[in-house]
Amino acid sequence: MSRFSGDTATAKTSQPPETVSRREAVGIDDISVYIPKLYLPVTGEFATSRGIDPAKLTRGIGIERMAVPDAHEDAATMAAMSLLELMRRSDLKPEDIGKIYVGTESAVDEAKALGTYVIGMLEQIYGAGSFQDCSTVEFKSACIGTTQALEALCYWVAAEDEGKVGIVIASDVAKYPLRSAGEYTQGAGSVSLLLKKNPRLIALEGIFGSFTRDENDFFRPMGATTAVVNGKHSNQCYLDAMQGAFDAFAAKAKRKGTIVPQDGECVTDFFSHLLFHIPYPRMVEYASAAIFEHYWQGLARWKEVETEIGAEPKAGDCESADQFLAAKSDYSRRFAKSKHFLDAFKSKVLDTTAFSRLVGNIYTGSIYLGLASLIEQERIKSGDRLCFGAYGSGCSALVFSGLVQPKFASVPKRDIFRRLDSRTLVPLADYERLHEGLKEKSIIAPSQEFALIEIDHQGYRHYGWMC
Ligand code: HMG
Repeated sequence: MSRFSGDTATAKTSQPPETVSRREAVGIDDISVYIPKLYLPVTGEFATSRGIDPAKLTRGIGIERMAVPDAHEDAATMAAMSLLELMRRSDLKPEDIGKIYVGTESAVDEAKALGTYVIGMLEQIYGAGSFQDCSTVEFKSACIGTTQALEALCYWVAAEDEGKVGIVIASDVAKYPLRSAGEYTQGAGSVSLLLKKNPRLIALEGIFGSFTRDENDFFRPMGATTAVVNGKHSNQCYLDAMQGAFDAFAAKAKRKGTIVPQDGECVTDFFSHLLFHIPYPRMVEYASAAIFEHYWQGLARWKEVETEIGAEPKAGDCESADQFLAAKSDYSRRFAKSKHFLDAFKSKVLDTTAFSRLVGNIYTGSIYLGLASLIEQERIKSGDRLCFGAYGSGCSALVFSGLVQPKFASVPKRDIFRRLDSRTLVPLADYERLHEGLKEKSIIAPSQEFALIEIDHQGYRHYGWMC
């Protein structure tokens, strides 16, 4: 048996921090997911028309299907759908909810908060004025918006003394120009999170490590529906920011005595699962490889890695700085293919990407789609410590942790695999017309759902519940 230990073994346990044991725990009590009913397979018609080897998409990118919003759907309808499901699942009444924070980067308006549209739609079910005591605000920070909202709302929930809960909604349509390299990473969907004291699912440990830097890796110009992206640069920004936030988290967790690695251990050993932002599943593999390589170096286990892939290149052995950088990059690629890394990736990360392979990027909700993925596949157990690594272009990262609670299994499942299986395939020509906003009539007539009914002569949007 290999002496290799740590990330391939069961996660280390450690004491919950004082803040969690002394005060009431705050965290995620329930989660709901809404994904549009249409999908486009990336193999077949799509790959042929774009002249791409399907294996590049399924293996190189890690995508099989992209969720496609129908003509009546946008970030507001999807947010209303995931919130409605959350309220029904958890038997919540409007008066139970103190705040609704919405993370989105595909808002339907430059000024009016997306949450007000959502409240307008929900009041068609729960009655006019039923949400008037609830406040709502939109968080825009590319794909990290929802996580910034979650951090902010947790402080409010901790201080709340009238028994109200908070909701965080992520809702986005990820859209790039047709025939661009971003196109096959598109997706759409919404995730709602119920935040409360003494949560049934995950108690957050109150430690957030952050990293921010001004970067031109991705943006969406005012008025445009598609993003402008420097693809390869965006991958590197993601890796740099994630490393920075991870280091900040590890230092804080150590200072607070929450995660204190002993000789031969490192911070990643203390997590049962690591959830990263998922712009496309392969990116999560790149991120995990970079994080594990960074923290394993210098530990006893690194000797075993070196036995498999050789010693790290040294600057002195290279003729130029460029040659050294190329040698280091080649070494990291070898690490990413090593048995030690692949074992750790399989046991701690891979399962977070199951839904994303079938949905694509849902931007700010994708990390929480990863959480739903773990839960629905029954990959978590009471006491597990989860690490969340959120990233938003522009760019920033936020790393935090949470503990799976003893009552987690009492929360009903969501049947997401079946729902994803029962979607309707949209032909390529229809997908392209929907993408370009040329299809006015819905492909599937909306029923038992919220829909955009009209944009009036002034540009105001009108939504309704379709029976
Ligand atoms: P690309 O040019 O499509 O792909 O760009 P590539 O050439 O880099 O290839 C990707 C992988 O496919 C490589 O694997 C290839 O070898 C492999 P690797 O070498 O790295 O292991 N490959 C194949 N595999 C099997 N069979 C084949 C084959 N051919 C090649 N035949 C890129 C990919 C992601 C850059 C592009 O799709 C893009 O621009 N996407 C949009 C931007 C993006 O998603 N960036 C991610 C980081 S930024 C982020 O996460 C934030 C974001 O969510 C937005 C926000 O914050 O709001 C985007």
